[in-house]
Amino acid sequence: MARILITSAIPYINGIKHLGNLVGSQLPADLFARYMRARGNEVMFICATDEHGTPAELAAAKAGKPVAEYCAEMHEVQADLARGFRLSFDHFGRSSSQRNHRLTQHFAGQLADHGLIREVSEKMIFSIDDNRFLPDRYIEGTCPNCGYDSARGDQCDNCTKQLDPTDLINPHSTISGSTNLEVRETKHLYLMQRALRDKLEAWIDSKADWPVLTTSIAKKWLNDGDGLQDRGITRDLHWGIPVMKGDQPWPGMEGKVFYVWFDAPIEYIAGTAEWADANGKQDADWERWWRTDKGAEDVTYYQFMGKDNVPFHTLSFPATILGSGEPWKLVDYLKSFNYLNYDGGQFSTSRGRGVFMDQALSILPSDYWRWWLLSHAPESADSEFTWENFQASVNKDLADVLGNFVSRVTKFAKSKLGETVPEGGEFGPQETALIAELGVRIRDYEGYMNAIEVRKAAAELRAIWVIGNEYLQAAAPWSAIKTDPARAEAMIRLSLNLIRVYAILSQPFIPDAAQAMMAAMGSDDWTWPSDVPEAIRALPAGHAFTVPENLFRKITDEERADWQQRFAGKRE
Ligand code: 2FM
Ligand code: ZN
Repeated sequence: MARILITSAIPYINGIKHLGNLVGSQLPADLFARYMRARGNEVMFICATDEHGTPAELAAAKAGKPVAEYCAEMHEVQADLARGFRLSFDHFGRSSSQRNHRLTQHFAGQLADHGLIREVSEKMIFSIDDNRFLPDRYIEGTCPNCGYDSARGDQCDNCTKQLDPTDLINPHSTISGSTNLEVRETKHLYLMQRALRDKLEAWIDSKADWPVLTTSIAKKWLNDGDGLQDRGITRDLHWGIPVMKGDQPWPGMEGKVFYVWFDAPIEYIAGTAEWADANGKQDADWERWWRTDKGAEDVTYYQFMGKDNVPFHTLSFPATILGSGEPWKLVDYLKSFNYLNYDGGQFSTSRGRGVFMDQALSILPSDYWRWWLLSHAPESADSEFTWENFQASVNKDLADVLGNFVSRVTKFAKSKLGETVPEGGEFGPQETALIAELGVRIRDYEGYMNAIEVRKAAAELRAIWVIGNEYLQAAAPWSAIKTDPARAEAMIRLSLNLIRVYAILSQPFIPDAAQAMMAAMGSDDWTWPSDVPEAIRALPAGHAFTVPENLFRKITDEERADWQQRFAGKRE
């Protein structure tokens, strides 16, 4: 039994995520976690909400709520949707937890002790009426380039010119509208990533088996332009983790917080500590996942994320870990994803374009979405959600192939042979051939799942469903029953067993349907079918089964057209 640590990129707290977000990290991470558990491994699967930074502050202000209250509410909303999608986190934490506060401050202290933090003086806009510095998005004014009067501090949306807040003409605070602003000098902490460049490069070079997408992005950032830059890890915000050196105050840093991207990945570790707290465990119980001096030397750590997150996970977070000088676990395999587009354009949170997690569950159960998203995961390139493709996939793969097999077998068996697994004779050449093919295909499926080749695994699973249908079609128990009832019984005995095997194999992709199949087979034996001849005999003659409710329904053309229209525009 191996020990597998899995983290998914932690979603921002501000708002409900769309399906593109879901398929880029949390859903494939869940697929892998479920598979690894099904294979009998010890798994720790952690996710959380990413609660700091200006987007959280702005969203809370828009909702008219104190930011802490907003975050607490949105965390529950996201946790609920995660349950709806059957995301099987061992813990869904919060980056605003006390655990993360302490751990983030601890890492900053360690980095400082190792001479990897320097102070930098910067000029920033201070709003006297708001009594705060105004980061990029909190300040607007007239663009010096095109004259547009609502240019933001970081960019003009009209002419796209990148701006510095001090470039704006007639700047005002977007919080209060105040123009009572001045340029003030402020000090920030920088993490000296440059000093760790060689270590980081050697570490990345040692990862020959990583997906090309991951290493190409990491190398680009390592070598582009001036190479790896030192990075500001503090901000002048109210909401966040106060800048402290371990548990000591940090002179000159009063009133400042750590940059959200500094504390977010540390939440992977803190989230595991939160898991321990929530389950009445000791520190040793989470440390054995993360500290190689405390039992984590035999842990294999997998991270899942969208491609935009790769630089932070291949350079910045490892710089924090390596620079700490402590034996924390580094990621062993980093699976990254391209983007999922939506119906001829992009998903857009700001414009509400596409299908969001709550909307998806309001129209169809999670298995439908899980299947489509995973079988079309944007692995080698960006992929696109279209309603036509979604309808075709659901109707063919789930309803016609898998659902139809289960329904035909159980209904025929019940009506002709009763509600227990029939006895019948020995298996003949057709069954032997099926079992042999199943053996080969299951090994291939395992290979793809082990390698986190999500699309290929989905295609193999579908092929495994297809061979059941083909067998049934060729064997034709409905004919055999008239001439050789014992043959027909053997066919049905095998087919009912196949339903149980399908439940086990399909569970990582479509957990609810898998449960329904297993329940209908009157079993709770989820043993992985490593030995196919044995697995296909697990339900003995005389074992009771039931006919399940229709596993999947088809999507009609009317529904498709309706949804296409409903989700094209702005989210209400
Ligand atoms: O891109 C995002 O959604 C970020 N909230 C991901 C953070 S991942 C990690 F650093 F915690
Ligand atoms: Zn402009």
